Amino acid sequence: MEPTLPILLEARNLTKSYDGRAVLRDVSFTLKAGERLALTGPSGSGKTTLLNCLGGVDRADSGTLLLEGAPLETMNGNALAKLRRQSLGTIFQFFHLLPTLTARENIEFPLQLNGVSANERRQRVQHLLDRVGVAHRAEALPSQLSGGEMQRVAIARALANQPRLLLADEPTGNLDTANGENILALLKELSVEQGAALVLVTHSSEATRICDRVLHMRDGQIVSETTP
Ligand SMILES: Nc1ncnc2c1ncn2[C@@H]1O[C@H](COP(=O)(O)OP(=O)(O)OP(=O)(O)O)[C@@H](O)[C@H]1O
Ligand SMILES: [Mg+2]
Repeated sequence: MEPTLPILLEARNLTKSYDGRAVLRDVSFTLKAGERLALTGPSGSGKTTLLNCLGGVDRADSGTLLLEGAPLETMNGNALAKLRRQSLGTIFQFFHLLPTLTARENIEFPLQLNGVSANERRQRVQHLLDRVGVAHRAEALPSQLSGGEMQRVAIARALANQPRLLLADEPTGNLDTANGENILALLKELSVEQGAALVLVTHSSEATRICDRVLHMRDGQIVSETTP
């Protein structure tokens, strides 16, 4: 990574407890624009909790989270929701597609939320369907898609608003090895193409290879950083 890239995200001394038990302890790191960071560690070490804080769906008890210099903890619910819609794309282990919408409509939905015109929506959705390789399944419902196809649709949806930051929690956790590898390769390609940074939570050392850096968590702390 070039040292001159601007800082996209900075976490400073994030701390969070559930029922008096610390699940994040003094977590600090920075992420540059376009950088790919893997977050790894044993079950229960706080990876999902940290990712949820980065995505603004959960809040740390103390510490600061700066996205392009703006502190998330000072934003109200509306401002956070807007930031999430415009700057973040999220990908989950179990896809979380809307079951009553087709593949095409699932990808289009976040564009509608952002008020993108019908004409531009049509073009962008078609480009994304082609790019992730599911154009031939565009009119299918999620229940009619394979796991790999669902994750491709979910990736297209996450990228629809050209976010600066992609957050992915075990995106290959529910896929077989071959599908998982294809999805990882696609995630890396698209992150490079769109200049989107990626925070990838994963148990798999294979998956960390698409990243520039690996942070290791244990008991709510970042205990080391390595390169994949
Ligand atoms: N809503 C909650 N209420 C109480 N405890 C919680 C809650 N969410 C998470 N925890 C606890 O916080 C700790 C960290 O959980 P987290 O889900 O962040 O772990 P993780 O590293 O993502 O684990 P995994 O690899 O199994 O997904 C765990 O001990 C978990 O039980
Ligand atoms: Mg988790």
